Amino acid sequence: MAKQSVSKKKLNIAMIGSGFMGKVHSNAFRQVGHFYDVDYDLQLRVVCGRDRVKLEAAAAQWGWEETETDWRKLIDRKDVEVIDIAVPNALHAPIAIAAAEAGKIVLCEKPLATSLEEARRMAKALRPVPHLVWFNYRRLPAIAYAKQLIEEGRTGQPYHYRALYLNQSGNDPSKASGWRYQRSASGTGAAGDLLSHVIDTALYLNGPISELTAVLHVFAAGRDVDDAAMAMVRFSNGSIGTIEATRYGVGNPNLNSFELNGSKGMLQFSLDDMNRLNFYDATERANFRARRNILVTGPDHPYWKTFWKPGHTIGYEHPFIATLGDFLQSMSSGEKFHVNADDAVEVERVLDALARSAASGQWVKLTTDAKA
Ligand SMILES: NC(=O)c1ccc[n+]([C@@H]2O[C@H](COP(=O)([O-])OP(=O)(O)OC[C@H]3O[C@@H](n4cnc5c(N)ncnc54)[C@H](O)[C@@H]3O)[C@@H](O)[C@H]2O)c1
Repeated sequence: MAKQSVSKKKLNIAMIGSGFMGKVHSNAFRQVGHFYDVDYDLQLRVVCGRDRVKLEAAAAQWGWEETETDWRKLIDRKDVEVIDIAVPNALHAPIAIAAAEAGKIVLCEKPLATSLEEARRMAKALRPVPHLVWFNYRRLPAIAYAKQLIEEGRTGQPYHYRALYLNQSGNDPSKASGWRYQRSASGTGAAGDLLSHVIDTALYLNGPISELTAVLHVFAAGRDVDDAAMAMVRFSNGSIGTIEATRYGVGNPNLNSFELNGSKGMLQFSLDDMNRLNFYDATERANFRARRNILVTGPDHPYWKTFWKPGHTIGYEHPFIATLGDFLQSMSSGEKFHVNADDAVEVERVLDALARSAASGQWVKLTTDAKA
């Protein structure tokens, strides 16, 4: 039975940023109570952005009570318990640290930071407060199911992990501007924007990366962030891999895919077909082996009870709802939530090694740090 709203604790949210992710998060805040039985009643208290006209329109469309153009004014407000960060990457650290120091619950977009050092400072500030990093793809049923199959041993000893995140925004002069193309606002280009997702999924499914060698490439003369990032990596589990992201993957508006080859089987996923997971079982008798194209909508798949009945597909918005729902449940249960800031530091560690390798042309070993 769903909890009655009278017994729920009110959580007033201030969302900073009302662009693409502002829309996605607003939807998740509105929807989460429809799918999850949570102890919290989320209130869309105030939305913050720079452009007053756009802000008023977003507030009216999604039902935010108030608008604000200065995020600093939100931090000390007693009527705000949650700060949600959906702004360009360079603003994540100042907002998240100020919000955590004020004791707020913090929801922060990826990439967590613009550098490893900044990510470490953020993690230190965020550890004492409930927080999440919006690496949403872990909660796609197909990716969560891939994790389950790997943990069941269905893929055996991993040999190869290869993954791509491709879009074509760099090739379109009308899109190749704005904060994503300015280092001061974004920190990096395709690396932080796209490859960060690939890295988080790789770490989730195939474990830590021990060393890598990388290339960062700029196609457009004068651009101060990378257009493409690719690396050959060695994982601690003995497998080797390639990870790649580009804004020049012409023909791919938003492709996010991976393939894992192990001694017992193969897994393959593509966001273009996000409700499905390919699995090849190499342990079946030879004349019976084939690639299975599994519709990961239940029964007995991750999140099938959360959303629709078996065979009824879900969309881009659902893993964000699942991220928020799992997070709110973890706040009630006290269970550690992932992806948290320490998990996101591991993504930054790979991005940092990648930049160092690209600059030096050398293989770079990754080291862990003691938590400060
Ligand atoms: N999890 C994902 O899959 C995913 C997808 C896209 C973007 N992102 C991340 O979300 C963040 C935002 O990306 P987006 O695509 O929504 O960008 P966007 O350009 O669509 O929106 C950015 C918003 O930030 C606001 N903003 C900028 N400077 C501000 C300031 N000083 N004060 C208040 N508001 C300010 C803008 O007004 C705008 O509303 C980035 O960190 C990005 O990496 C994550």
